[in-house]
Amino acid sequence: MNVFNAPDFDRHEQVSFFSDPKSGLRAIIAIHSTALGPACGGTRMYPYASADDALTDALRLSRGMSYKNAMAGLPLGGGKAVIIGNPAKEKTHNLLLAYADAVNALSGRYITAMDVGMTPQDIAVIASGTPHAAGYDAPGKRSGDSAPATSLGVFEGLKAAVRHRLKTDELKGLTVAVQGLGKVGMGVAERLHAAGAKLIVADVNPAAVRRAVDRLGAESVPVDQIAAVRCDVFSPNALGAVLNDRSIAALQAVVVAGAANNQLERDRHGQMLRDHGVLYAPDYVINSGGVIHVAGQIFGWGDAELSTRVHAIAGTLKEIFRRADMEGRPTSRIADMIAEDRMGAAAKAVSSRAAE
Ligand code: NAI
Repeated sequence: MNVFNAPDFDRHEQVSFFSDPKSGLRAIIAIHSTALGPACGGTRMYPYASADDALTDALRLSRGMSYKNAMAGLPLGGGKAVIIGNPAKEKTHNLLLAYADAVNALSGRYITAMDVGMTPQDIAVIASGTPHAAGYDAPGKRSGDSAPATSLGVFEGLKAAVRHRLKTDELKGLTVAVQGLGKVGMGVAERLHAAGAKLIVADVNPAAVRRAVDRLGAESVPVDQIAAVRCDVFSPNALGAVLNDRSIAALQAVVVAGAANNQLERDRHGQMLRDHGVLYAPDYVINSGGVIHVAGQIFGWGDAELSTRVHAIAGTLKEIFRRADMEGRPTSRIADMIAEDRMGAAAKAVSSRAAE
């Protein structure tokens, strides 16, 4: 594939390919934008069928991080890395250290965090070889687990969406369908329960469902029904592409607010949600508590600053909802436009400083 012509290239600033035959490392680090600060995003390890597939994933995810970091109001740009290989078989200590050297070669233009196929322990190994890593457990540092911050952001964002669409601050009496009861989904469900909401839940893991039924009084439904149950809010916290032609047609909720990444199967599903009278909290905005948590490790923020920034997600969503109503556009499009404005303004400021 010609990188410059790749469909997801979208003016990436830098795409670097690394190979280390001794450890078997083959990695691609994509830096979409450093307009707002050093590019930050996770490293994914996956047995891609081809280098082209790996490149496509790196470019797509890296661009997504530019938008997410911009909307979270972080002084960070967007980047992402992929390591080609099976994490269960090929992820050795030496490979992680060789990868740390690759990150170092970019002199801080890219900061890595965790993604699919990597654990906080892996990031800690990488961090032993480079200062440009975040989102891991280390003595004297806040826990690397970003799920609690993500859950809090989703809960606050969900309340903002309910306030806008249903004109109430009360969750009591509302029914929320929660898809996925993992680290984030269970946290969201617990907060909703504490606020008096009625829960309907589904997960492929029966133990997680049992916990929610026993502890939170949730009603459980099969996984293929959760998006279509009678409820006020649908909160997807498991998979991508859950909002598609079929699911939107069957949706009974009037608000969608959850942590899952890439919820819209296609961009046009943002418009379809709007046409169906559903208020959609754009995924990369409402789930940005995780990246805010990682940024907290990078910049050494205290609890108060972190909490303020996660709570600010609700304000950002409120502004998106207001503009979407005013301009008659889908919330997903408005979020993209605001992110593009922020990146554009930062890039302009950088180039005018350079010209001085
Ligand atoms: P997790 O892996 O802990 O939880 C995912 C849950 O979804 C698991 O309980 C799993 O059994 C369940 N699940 C899988 N397939 C399902 C299906 N077909 N129907 C219903 N449930 C199903 O992951 P985590 O950390 O809770 O993340 C959840 C989502 O939020 C993911 O999409 C993730 O990419 C996204 N996210 C997570 C962040 C974090 O800080 N952990 C930050 C931003 C986004």
